[in-house]
Amino acid sequence: MDILSDQCFESSDFTGLALRKYLSSHDLLQEFVDLVVRKTNSEVGFLHFYDDVKGELDLKVWSGTALTHGPVAHNTRYQAAPSEIWTNSISNRAPEIENQSEKTCMVRQTKMTDFKVTNYISFPILADNKIVAVLGVGNRPTPYDATDIEKLDVYVKVGWPIVTKLLKTKDDDEHSLSLEFQNQSHEEVLVAMTQAIGKALELRDEYTSHHQSNVALITAGIARQLGLSAERCFGSLIHDIGKIAIPAQILNKTGPLLSAELDMVRLHAEFGREIFSHLHLPWPIADMIGQHHERMDGSGYPNGLKGRDICLEARIIAVADTYDAMSGDRPYRHAPGKNKALSTLIDGRVTRYDPYVVDAFVEVLKNGTDIQGLYA
Ligand SMILES: [Fe+2]
Repeated sequence: MDILSDQCFESSDFTGLALRKYLSSHDLLQEFVDLVVRKTNSEVGFLHFYDDVKGELDLKVWSGTALTHGPVAHNTRYQAAPSEIWTNSISNRAPEIENQSEKTCMVRQTKMTDFKVTNYISFPILADNKIVAVLGVGNRPTPYDATDIEKLDVYVKVGWPIVTKLLKTKDDDEHSLSLEFQNQSHEEVLVAMTQAIGKALELRDEYTSHHQSNVALITAGIARQLGLSAERCFGSLIHDIGKIAIPAQILNKTGPLLSAELDMVRLHAEFGREIFSHLHLPWPIADMIGQHHERMDGSGYPNGLKGRDICLEARIIAVADTYDAMSGDRPYRHAPGKNKALSTLIDGRVTRYDPYVVDAFVEVLKNGTDIQGLYA
């Protein structure tokens, strides 16, 4: 095998670094060091970043094999000192081999790790004529020699540019995600989190998840019509979250529900209120979830609340909930349809539903802009 094809063979694993997805910069660096340890048949390895101006080392990662010796420190910054096994390679700006070392590879400050390094190579990594990192491998049963330095040179030439490019991409991604997060308002974060919680229901009850999204659109329209902020009713996104505690075979039952099953489904309002009872927000989220099946005349559940004892947000959700539930098919019955849904709301205006809210909903339907397409 000639030198060129030998190098290609030796470095192929390192080009593979670019094809992997890494959850963190730490994982990427550890993968690189582990690869170097395996390829050199070493027992342990490490990687420092190095500040050429301050003469400061920053211990970034140990090989996974080094961790078997006990707890080790990471991200430890300190000045390079003569006693350290890698200091000569820094001062000479060249790889250093030591085959009869009695030095202890200790972790300063913590003193948690104390294992002997019997032989090692310390390999400085240069960029723009500055040392930027120090790679080390050690404790191979056989001595290291110049061939190992040649191999390390190939691994670093091939692998390090890939590592630094991936690190920069990761940093850029994290920076832009961080900026994106900082630019969001509390309301936006809350709504996004609430949508995620609502989506959890989809895993076991697809109907409810779609229903909640529809109800959220309608409640936002009603809220705007009433001059309220749409965010105020964002609890509509998860108004049925309590169904997560109801057995899936009941939620997805295709036939009519038995009386006991209906009683169980009705518990979802109280379960939902309980789930959000400790979350303190400017809006009464636990009440709007727990009261969305209450009715103005006291005929609702779970507590038979009447009139304005039911919070406004729950009265809004009640109207949106009724319209969507009657307009779309459910697992256990065909939908009466949107005309019947609207007449139910108008017939129940004052008695069962807040007239102020029903009138606003009728306006929303007339304008059609907010919920157009949902029930086409
Ligand atoms: Fe409900």
